[in-house]
Amino acid sequence: MENYSRRILNAAFFLAGIVRRNTIVIYERSPKGICFFIMCGIIAYAGTEDAAPILLEGLKRLEYRGYDSAGILTINGGSQFELKKDVGKVLEIHLKVNLLDLKGTIGIAHTRWATHGGVTRRNAHPHVSNNGKIAVIHNGIIENYKDLKAQLESEGFHFYSETDTEVVPNLIEYWMRIRGANFVQAALNSFQSLEGNFAIVVIDGDSKTMIGSKNGSPLVLGVGQDRNYFLASDIPAFLDRTKDVVYLYDGDTVVITQQETDRYEILDFRTGKKVERPVQSVSWDIEHAAKGEFDHFMLKEISEQVETIQRAASQDRQTIEEITARIRKARGVFLIGCGSSYHACLSASYLFSKLASFHINTVLASEFSAYEDFLKEDTLVIAVTQSGETIDVLDAIKTAKQKGCQIISIVNVMGSSATQFADASIFLNAGPEVSVLSTKTYTAQLAVLTLLAFSLAGKYDEGVRELKYLWNVVYNLTSQNMRTRLKQLADRLSTSEHIFVLGRGSLYATALEAALKVKEVSYIHAEAFAGGELKHGPISLIGKGTPVMVFVSKDTESKILSNAMEVKSRGGYLIGIGPSAIDAFDFFIKVPENEELNPISQIIPIQILAYQLAVILGHDPDRPRNLAKSVTVR
Ligand code: M6R
Repeated sequence: MENYSRRILNAAFFLAGIVRRNTIVIYERSPKGICFFIMCGIIAYAGTEDAAPILLEGLKRLEYRGYDSAGILTINGGSQFELKKDVGKVLEIHLKVNLLDLKGTIGIAHTRWATHGGVTRRNAHPHVSNNGKIAVIHNGIIENYKDLKAQLESEGFHFYSETDTEVVPNLIEYWMRIRGANFVQAALNSFQSLEGNFAIVVIDGDSKTMIGSKNGSPLVLGVGQDRNYFLASDIPAFLDRTKDVVYLYDGDTVVITQQETDRYEILDFRTGKKVERPVQSVSWDIEHAAKGEFDHFMLKEISEQVETIQRAASQDRQTIEEITARIRKARGVFLIGCGSSYHACLSASYLFSKLASFHINTVLASEFSAYEDFLKEDTLVIAVTQSGETIDVLDAIKTAKQKGCQIISIVNVMGSSATQFADASIFLNAGPEVSVLSTKTYTAQLAVLTLLAFSLAGKYDEGVRELKYLWNVVYNLTSQNMRTRLKQLADRLSTSEHIFVLGRGSLYATALEAALKVKEVSYIHAEAFAGGELKHGPISLIGKGTPVMVFVSKDTESKILSNAMEVKSRGGYLIGIGPSAIDAFDFFIKVPENEELNPISQIIPIQILAYQLAVILGHDPDRPRNLAKSVTVR
């Protein structure tokens, strides 16, 4: 499954055109945007049993894909819809509104990770058409929804949400009510006019028909016993009911009619023609299936970086430019964060300085109170936080707010506390990160901060281009070959008591992050130093066989390699990470030179190494001891 997705992604980029840069093949992005999987979970059921318990169970299993709001809609014994949805996690909503008393044997359900529109009940799915007869759940982004909305408004349709999704049921209603099409034809016509990625399930109350369609976002069909059918973003949603699945391809549109649920039909919405797909049996258990081919979420999330970095870099230009203007205007800018988020801030401070000649103060959020006296009304504080709930960050934000400072948050979780306090926010759009370790959200933070630095330097387009070119590098860095090679290194390092890490400039921040990754998941002591600091004390720790990682880039090469030689001459075991090997390296991890983007690419092999170390040492990489995903204690 994993290799399959990678092949599909590769093919998509390949078809989009090839550009060469240095010796690496780079795949040009299509003008319509890359097919990314925006997270959200969808599950639908049509069959002979009560739908609500099946849908509720499915939602719980899909919550790793999104958890800011959820809803279930069923068609009751007649043709009426019964709908319950709200903001919050699935179980919280269920405790509040009892999702199980929805009647009917056909229904759709959704757990949301907000992309278009805030986290509100109105924006939660399912969405219903104006005449109340068509209901939809959707995962993905409909890029041309504003045009479609305007056209529908001119036909008298009105909208209650800020979502892109709400155009879909209304478009179908338009084709049925105004243009006289039947439900299936109306759905096919509507899907044809959508641009962007989607997995959609739509139901019609009158005909009790369910249609699921996909284009760039995941959707699988589950074929149960006794005329029971499931459509879901991911197999675990229905794995307790059936192991027989049909993998759907882009364009596939499954039509299930409740009057005849002993059969289903698959059409290609682009041609209207029937397609045949085999029913295949899966042998996974539920836990395994949620992670796909991966044994742990950490590895899954590391591998997702091929998409998530691009997604983080695909920001709304106007938002980035407005925030750039605020940065320019401010008298004093602070970048604050904790843990990995702080390392992203530190890394960015080098880039702001080098690229845009702009001084930025980088402070650990937990130490921010020491700077209180420097906070004025024209000070700008940029809080970088995956969760948006880290108490040290929230305390710092509150302190800055009291002083009248402007706050920008760079956050992954929409609707989180940090976004509520901030004057403006940039979202990482990395999807939920389940492993306690920051991996994909760290590189997403770097991507956003890099974009800001380029924008501040008046080079926004160049920044976007550079980040786009990184796709191919990240693809290779997360490949099976790389993992196999890093496993050899992990085997060698797993018996070490200490590992040291060296870097200079922005790669000093990478060294700090590498040491954090290794220590928090393998429990091996790992410590980072700026290359130049080695001779000021730490060199006394180096003896025969002491493992030392060295991050090398073109602009730091001569100095960091001389630090490497200092290690070598004391018998250290040298691990080089960078564009070219030297004889002194005992182990070399090749990462092509990416200039300003080196901090994004060079950390990836060490994330994999840390993962491999944890596995070899028998630790759970997703739940390291003593750590929590969101640190809400001081
Ligand atoms: O949610 P935040 O980005 O604010 O979290 C900050 C740190 O707690 C977090 O980065 C932590 O250091 C992770 N364990 C790193 O892997």
